[in-house]
Amino acid sequence: MARFAYVNGRYVDHLDASVHIEDRGYQLADGVYEVVGVRDGKLIDEKPHLDRLDRSLGELRIDWPVTRAALSFIIRELMRRNRLRDGLVYMQVTRGVARRDHAFPTNPVKPALVMTTKNTKPLGADVGAGVAVKSQPDIRWERCDIKTVALLPNVLAKQAARESGAYEAWLIDTDGCVTEGASTNAWIVTPEGELVTRQTDNGILAGITRGTLSAIADKLQLKFVERPFSLAEAKRAKEAFITSATSFVTPVVKIDGEPVGDGKPGATSRRLREEYVRFAEEGEAVT
Ligand code: PDD
Repeated sequence: MARFAYVNGRYVDHLDASVHIEDRGYQLADGVYEVVGVRDGKLIDEKPHLDRLDRSLGELRIDWPVTRAALSFIIRELMRRNRLRDGLVYMQVTRGVARRDHAFPTNPVKPALVMTTKNTKPLGADVGAGVAVKSQPDIRWERCDIKTVALLPNVLAKQAARESGAYEAWLIDTDGCVTEGASTNAWIVTPEGELVTRQTDNGILAGITRGTLSAIADKLQLKFVERPFSLAEAKRAKEAFITSATSFVTPVVKIDGEPVGDGKPGATSRRLREEYVRFAEEGEAVT
């Protein structure tokens, strides 16, 4: 377990890290977060993650708790203290501590910032055996573009998937289309070899891994299309995969118990994973 956490200005023992019971994140899910991957001591895509944090904060009219430069420093300091080589950095900003009332506090409160790190097994170029996904109705709100800590529908969908033996849930909208995973973006490779993922709007989170992978796909001269795709189309796809800061590019080999393609990770998913890992390893070193 990581030894330190950062809580509102202090690096504290992870076991003692706590926030006030009237923190609006705790009581009202009035806050946002980011998860940044770390590969071989390097932060992956720090800038776009902090840009997205800025956007999420702006949408909810929460001020930055510290300057952006200070946040970058705190990330590095926590990584250093926890000797983080591979894993992730989690940061959360809430509107702060105030007497419970749904409306924003009328007296200015300081936004609360907490940060933790998690060590994981290094994710390499090998995709492994792939994962199974289970479809679940997308019962979330209409601002899924904001990375808020209000994740209950995602939690319930992921739990349903896990109880059925699947790794991830794919969320299905009222048109029968896959929006995204409970904590990942969803992709397919069509029988014609087109790489398809849903367009970014308020229906999904604009994943940072998704954005980087679309640039990699361009570089590899793969045909990349952003459009809705149905669950039925996904089941007929040649390949499918998920992307996120924590899963990089992970092939989906089963949807609702049915094999995708030949039921094994496909060539395009493998290639994209390799390229993504290369990109991650070339990131900025943290010493
Ligand atoms: N989840 N969609 C949702 C709903 C997510 O929660 C995430 C990330 C993604 C992928 O975004 P990115 O590529 O920026 O990680 C898509 C993080 C990892 C989490 O909640 O732990």
